[in-house]
Amino acid sequence: MSSLTASASWQALAAHAGLARSWSLRDLFAADKSRFERFSCRFEDLLLDYSKHLATGETLRLLLDLARERDVEGWRQRMVAGRKINASEGRAVLHTALRHRAATPVVVDGRDVMPEVRAVLARMKEFCEEIRSFRRKGFTGQNLTDVVNIGIGGSDLGPRMVCEALAPFAEPGHRVHFVSNVDPGDLVRTLAGLDAERTLFVVASKTFTTQETMTNAASARAWLVERMGGQEAAVARHFVAVSTNEEKVRAFGIDPKNMFGFWDWVGGRYSLWSAIGLPIALHLGFARFEELLDGAHAMDRHFQETPLERNMPVLMGLLGVWYTDFLGASSHAVLPYDQNLHRFAAHLQQLDMESNGKSVDRAGRAVDYPTGPVVWGEPGTNGQHAFFQLLHQGTSLIPCDFLAAASSLTPLGDHHDKLLANFLAQTAALAFGKSREEARAELARQGLAGEALEALLPHKVFPGNRPSSSLLYEKLSPYRLGSLIALYEHKVFVQGVIWNINSFDQWGVELGKQLAARILPALAGEALPEPPDGSTAGLLAHVAALRRE
Ligand code: F6P
Repeated sequence: MSSLTASASWQALAAHAGLARSWSLRDLFAADKSRFERFSCRFEDLLLDYSKHLATGETLRLLLDLARERDVEGWRQRMVAGRKINASEGRAVLHTALRHRAATPVVVDGRDVMPEVRAVLARMKEFCEEIRSFRRKGFTGQNLTDVVNIGIGGSDLGPRMVCEALAPFAEPGHRVHFVSNVDPGDLVRTLAGLDAERTLFVVASKTFTTQETMTNAASARAWLVERMGGQEAAVARHFVAVSTNEEKVRAFGIDPKNMFGFWDWVGGRYSLWSAIGLPIALHLGFARFEELLDGAHAMDRHFQETPLERNMPVLMGLLGVWYTDFLGASSHAVLPYDQNLHRFAAHLQQLDMESNGKSVDRAGRAVDYPTGPVVWGEPGTNGQHAFFQLLHQGTSLIPCDFLAAASSLTPLGDHHDKLLANFLAQTAALAFGKSREEARAELARQGLAGEALEALLPHKVFPGNRPSSSLLYEKLSPYRLGSLIALYEHKVFVQGVIWNINSFDQWGVELGKQLAARILPALAGEALPEPPDGSTAGLLAHVAALRRE
């Protein structure tokens, strides 16, 4: 037994979970008229309603005991103080420093990192102003109107999601495009609509070794040079790099004076706050990027300063542990009723699953409890017409997060009221369902009786007790988006602490990379030094046969 599962608070929760299986959300609400007030928490205009969870005051008390026992507060302090909590890579974890807006120092290895952070922000600001005011031109003297970010994973998902979410804040004339997939279709289709003379490429890669990004960057470079009549000198006007690896940037042919740096203490999936956010600043303006940082910083302060009982990321993290480890949930849906957030779940998938998809603890011992769930989602109302059937009547317990703005950034007639009505209806339907008696009465009102009614009845019952959180805010803004992303970052952190795993490495992505490098020559017809497994050999032979046909 691990020290976690053997701990008093874990054992108490396991016993308590036995009771939870017989709870009904209808009864919990009926028994406590102030349940909404007691099970909701505020951060500025952001409200977290967690009253529709299969949880009582006792559940929360036991979960908070667990958080204290696992020293969430101590780990939080170690993270923001620059301690090397990413032990398997020997690194500090300081994305909070990137949005640290106070004048106080943040020290790593005895050195204040804030002057460097501020220096890169100042360079980004200057560069953005030059590009957006068209003072800095392309090689042929044209305005640079289109930015193509070439990156993948954390060097793509965060900035792409933010640019999509905040598109209503963008001014015309500064377009941004994202290329991530090594599938040629991605780059080819993007470039097809672009004029090389007006295009700026941002090659974004923490390591500057990622195969997909380097391949796309090399092809984009060739495309540019060809369109500039073979003049290599054009590269300096049309390519900038964002990386921690100056040597590789130089080797690629980008002058380090066109490079924006960041540091090994910034994990890829936590990097949108660094120079990896450059496309955001180029698209929306630097002031908007700073508002995003401000929102994240405000959430960092909430996380650090608010007692655990009212701490939004802590509560969300603990409820996730409750379902994953005690009530058997293995997936978690994120359902923004806000079309601006249509890439939010994609960003959270990397954030959560790359961080907490681990099966050994910090000391390398196999865990004896479930860790990170599968995270997925789509915007409402679209999901309602696709997969909500399973949420309502399927056999799995899937806790959901609903996110919604009280007002639209792009008001139009009664669209937003309809959107919100659906958000409210879905959370209520999941929680309270429709009982057999209610379904029977409804069918009877519709004129059904006897065998016909009995045959249809089981299909019309909604079991309810399907838990959800609602995150409700006034209106999406750079500031609010910053705080929402930081909220989820800290939620993931809290869960990693409880599970005693390192949320900041990602060794699980390496094997596939190694094998791809080994297999690649075979696709060009070369013999491999070692024969691949039977399935891979068969698939390679079939590819070759299909290519010959
Ligand atoms: O393969 C996973 C990963 O290492 C992510 O953690 C990272 O965000 C992504 O690849 C891209 O890495 P890089 O920014 O170094 O190109």
